[in-house]
Amino acid sequence: MRSYAKSIALYERTKAHLAGGVSSNVRYASTPVPLFFERGEGARLHDVDGNVHIDYVLGNGPAILGHAPKPVIDAVARSLAEGQVFAGQHPRETELAERLNRLLPSAEVVRFATSGTEAVLMAMRLARAFTGRVKIIKCEGHYHGWSDQAFISTKPSLNEAGPADAPVPVAGSPGMAPSVLEDTVVAGWNDLAALRRAFDLHPRQIAAVIMEPVMVNGGAILPHEGYLAGVAELCRAEGALFICDEVITGFRVGLGGAQARFGAKADLSIYAKAVAAGFPLALVAGRRDVMDTLLDRGVMHGGTYNGNVQSMAAALAALDELERDGGALYRLMEQRGSRLMQGLSSLGARHKLPVLVQGFPTIFQTFFSRAAPPRNYRESMACDRDTALAFHRALQEEGIRVNQRTTWFLSAAHDDAIIDETLAAADRAMARLVQH
Ligand SMILES: Cc1ncc(COP(=O)(O)O)c(C=O)c1O
Repeated sequence: MRSYAKSIALYERTKAHLAGGVSSNVRYASTPVPLFFERGEGARLHDVDGNVHIDYVLGNGPAILGHAPKPVIDAVARSLAEGQVFAGQHPRETELAERLNRLLPSAEVVRFATSGTEAVLMAMRLARAFTGRVKIIKCEGHYHGWSDQAFISTKPSLNEAGPADAPVPVAGSPGMAPSVLEDTVVAGWNDLAALRRAFDLHPRQIAAVIMEPVMVNGGAILPHEGYLAGVAELCRAEGALFICDEVITGFRVGLGGAQARFGAKADLSIYAKAVAAGFPLALVAGRRDVMDTLLDRGVMHGGTYNGNVQSMAAALAALDELERDGGALYRLMEQRGSRLMQGLSSLGARHKLPVLVQGFPTIFQTFFSRAAPPRNYRESMACDRDTALAFHRALQEEGIRVNQRTTWFLSAAHDDAIIDETLAAADRAMARLVQH
């Protein structure tokens, strides 16, 4: 058995001075306590107890080049002496904006923020200002940050969530203003008819539809063929904006994100995480006429750290790596991730466990279910989450770190030897599951 004694002791000590012992509630989803890590190196994390983990959490997505990627940390180190924040512009912002506008399918212009949560708030405000409407449709099970406006029906219990064809908005946290629920319409995802119904129930009141293009937070579920293009078309017909939250998929499933892969185009898109390979950067990209309201109509967006020198340097260096040789790193990651997905599937069959592996090679989830692969939040909730949690624990014991839902993020540092090591560990972890 691996020991976590030092993490447990440090967590107890931390709780006395850091509220709840963590800096983000998301970290409570960790076994046996929120773990303390001393350092990350490529695909591996070293915790304070001396355990080494092959890391498939990757900070929940950002570390696309692995931990402490040399080209990025060198670029950031070189930028440090230039300063950090000026309450003024820095030429790297221009350079990065130009580059992003070239790479992102829906970007006529971009605006930088610091976290995904804030960028979502900016996109919602822009949509409301541009359309003069208030309500926003969001999809059940999708996560768009922890703000009052967005943390709605992200993980509702099924007895609160209402019928599948008319879900009710459920506040995700105590302390949220009840009024936000009046401005939010919840629809089932991957279902154009459900979206049409939501529009019909609120004629000419919908400012925007927001969704993850791939439902990563509810289980790496891919959109049906034509679904995203259908959403864009429906929004256009209804005079609403389509906001695509690519915080996870952006720069992870390819340079152009999920929209390039599925041939869809949103009015506003949100990127964060992988774009700066671990440094804090988020952005809204989108239509010039919508984004110009920031200047023309004084739609407010601020942020002390937006466009800070180090995040800009990190993103430029990360894009150098990701763009090299026509995206060679993505081709490698796709090959290795596919091998991992197939390997996990075959191991499931060998151990007679109902393992379903769903998603992209760079971001996928293992489900335990004898039913067809889940297509939305409710179907994903119907999968066997206790066995997923047991698999997470068994993997951790074998030196593999995935989150408690068993989502797997891949980085360019996960080379073939690491994939082999992972599959051997997963074999032993599945054997443990079968024994219990
Ligand atoms: C799809 C999506 N949108 C928004 C966010 C919020 O981003 P941040 O944690 O940077 O505020 C997340 C975070 O995981 C996310 O997965």
